[in-house]
Amino acid sequence: MRLLGILAVTAIVPVIAGWPDVSRRQASATITVDVTKKFQTMDGFGFAEAFQRANVIVNLPAQQQQEVLDLLFNATSGAGATILRIGIGSSPDSSSDHMNSIQPKNPGGPNASPKYIWDGKDSGQVFVAKEAYARGVRTFYANAWSAPGYMKTNENENNGGYLCGVTGQTCSSGDWKQAFANYLVQYIKFYQSEGINITHLGFLNEPEFAPSYAGMLSSGTQAASFIKVLSPTLAAANLSSVGINCCDSEGWGNQGTMTSQLESAVVESLLSTITSHAYTSGPNSPVNTIKREWQTENADLNGAWQTKWYSNGGAGEGMRWASHIHFAIVNANCSAYLYWIGLQTGATNSKLISVSGSTYSVSKRLWAFAQFARGARPGAVRVGTSGGSFSTSAYLNADGTLSVLVLNTGSSASAVSIGTKGFNGPKATAWVTDNTRDYAAMSAGWKGGVVNRTVPSRAMVSFILSP
Ligand SMILES: *[C@@H]1O[C@H](CO)[C@@H](O)[C@H](O)[C@H]1NC(C)=O
Ligand SMILES: *[C@@H]1O[C@H](CO)[C@@H](O)[C@H](O)[C@H]1NC(C)=O
Ligand SMILES: *[C@@H]1O[C@H](CO)[C@@H](O)[C@H](O)[C@H]1NC(C)=O
Ligand SMILES: *[C@@H]1O[C@H](CO)[C@@H](O)[C@H](O)[C@H]1NC(C)=O
Ligand SMILES: *[C@@H]1O[C@H](CO)[C@@H](O)[C@H](O)[C@H]1NC(C)=O
Repeated sequence: MRLLGILAVTAIVPVIAGWPDVSRRQASATITVDVTKKFQTMDGFGFAEAFQRANVIVNLPAQQQQEVLDLLFNATSGAGATILRIGIGSSPDSSSDHMNSIQPKNPGGPNASPKYIWDGKDSGQVFVAKEAYARGVRTFYANAWSAPGYMKTNENENNGGYLCGVTGQTCSSGDWKQAFANYLVQYIKFYQSEGINITHLGFLNEPEFAPSYAGMLSSGTQAASFIKVLSPTLAAANLSSVGINCCDSEGWGNQGTMTSQLESAVVESLLSTITSHAYTSGPNSPVNTIKREWQTENADLNGAWQTKWYSNGGAGEGMRWASHIHFAIVNANCSAYLYWIGLQTGATNSKLISVSGSTYSVSKRLWAFAQFARGARPGAVRVGTSGGSFSTSAYLNADGTLSVLVLNTGSSASAVSIGTKGFNGPKATAWVTDNTRDYAAMSAGWKGGVVNRTVPSRAMVSFILSP
């Protein structure tokens, strides 16, 4: 997805998957967390700063720049995002919001010696990646929207077109699969030279969609024919640890179809993660795969800028996004959830923080992400919960802490008692976001190994239990 200013390039109806019944009320609830019942391992939460959105951060005055970076990535004072999605450029220039290519000119065919160039900036994303790294981020998902135009059937990075040489697509210029794989490896090496290890690599964005901006069409079968080249190319460059992600479809439905095609082509074992956006259909149930699943892009693209946690249940409200994230993890087995943009200019909810000149405005969507990103750190294992009709999930973190995230979308406060099975913890803290608080400390009501506390109405509370 890419939106220019406030203009929506595509008309996409946001999905209201699993929005809970707000009329559900209760006076008290008992929740049991069973640490012996294990589900998926979590990779984290984040967003992109692609299409030169990163330059908005680069161009802020020093003080505001550090403030927004802390809001986005700092796990002590901000959202504590743990994944940055980086756009791999395909543009021959940097005009408008184009992401410039590391090989803007055709070197003379797929077998010619490559002519890569590196400007050390990558549309502002190198700066943001380094600042994210300084705040603890270790998961960097580099994702190409398109190959450079000269590698494609339509000889253009825009308006769809296929990579020359994938199943059923031949070009007079030759087969560019290997050259594109080399290009992606070189991109990873450029980031390595900047001190950033790319951990995940994707080569498609919404491959069922031919927008007027950078994009590349592909079926799952065609993606598989490229993965068979990309995987050994990464290995030959000693980059087998970089996981291949596929396919960032527009929605869960199409990603399911593409995943079946990847399985039929026997490339599933070469992948790290099945990735999908949530625009045309949402993460209501798991994709049929043995691999991890990430929801890699979703946003309220068109709604007018909304900073509230709750007002009338509108598409941009923070509480609504807390629900989206909860259901993607619990119902669809997601190990990661990414918003579209972290920070950007403009008047819509397509970002978490909006910038105008040197001032910025923070939405409660950012604090919805904070409740999850600070509670479920990378490597956390989701564990079982039962009881209560809140949206509850729990995570056993690598540092031994147990986070119990309780989202009360109801209009009444509710007493809650949280007990654990298989976990002994003498200490607990609690953190709340609602209309007036942003991940604010509150008493956890911890006594005798049980949380005994009131969860406010329309609020999300993270109880963090320490062993
Ligand atoms: C994160 O925020 C805390 C609290 O404001 C601050 O002390 C710390 O320096 C920040 N961390 C980084 C890496 O900027
Ligand atoms: C990047 O990965 C290499 C190889 O695994 C490792 O030696 C290096 O320390 C990593 N660098 C950073 C900045 O994490
Ligand atoms: C990969 O690593 C091996 C063993 O460390 C080394 O011999 C080889 O030169 C490396 N290859 C590349 C392309 O870096
Ligand atoms: C959930 O994802 C994990 C991989 O992260 C997989 O092993 C497991 O089978 C999936 N569970 C379901 C119900 O799809
Ligand atoms: C929970 O706290 C309330 C009042 O704060 C108290 O009346 C109740 O007995 C406590 N319940 C448990 C199980 O400790």
